[in-house]
Amino acid sequence: MIKNATFLISNTDYNKCPAPDKAEFAFIGRSNVGKSSLINMLANNKNLAKTSGRPGKTQLINHFGVDNKWYMVDLPGYGFAKVSKSLKADWEGMIKDYLVNRENLVALFVLIDSRLEPQKIDLEFITWCGESNIPIVLLFTKADKQSRPKTQSTVAKFLKASKAIFEEAPLYFITSAESGDGKIEVVNFIEEQVEEFQNQEN
Ligand code: GTP
Ligand code: MG
Repeated sequence: MIKNATFLISNTDYNKCPAPDKAEFAFIGRSNVGKSSLINMLANNKNLAKTSGRPGKTQLINHFGVDNKWYMVDLPGYGFAKVSKSLKADWEGMIKDYLVNRENLVALFVLIDSRLEPQKIDLEFITWCGESNIPIVLLFTKADKQSRPKTQSTVAKFLKASKAIFEEAPLYFITSAESGDGKIEVVNFIEEQVEEFQNQEN
């Protein structure tokens, strides 16, 4: 359980992020997939990260401190059609620099809309993560919006597609910011990883 999460700082430059002295977990995925909402659900605080029905809400690297033990990072989404080419290039530069250079990044949660067939843009992004040795965990979002069998079927399709990229399909969780599904599982996963990170530091 997360007891206390507080906003720390927003950045465009990974060099200005908080000192990399704690385990860090970042959230990425297509614009509007539910990154900020999921962060709020995990933290039990609806007002922590800014959410919106309009895609493109989160535009910076946003750090939150959790229980004085780890960092949670809300990232801007990719694949927002209304963005100019130069803005897209800015996004890529900022995000890829951050992901490649952030030494305390323990896992990158890649959020996938559980209602959709595998999307090219998501498969391309996780391919880049694989090539760049970024440790990813998949979080399927908005599971409240459809029946469980429908979710299971889209999840199976995505895992199958990701087996063509990775030798083993990545670890995954099914979530809903609305119902709280997946909260316990994701927070347990994070807390186990935080403990491991701390053991390595000492
Ligand atoms: P950007 O910051 O624009 O990249 O978007 P984001 O990925 O942070 O999405 P955000 O959390 O702002 O949510 C986008 C929209 O989806 C909002 O209208 C949310 O209320 C809605 N939403 C997010 N998660 C869920 C969910 O689990 N269930 C349902 N029903 N709606 C959700
Ligand atoms: Mg957001």
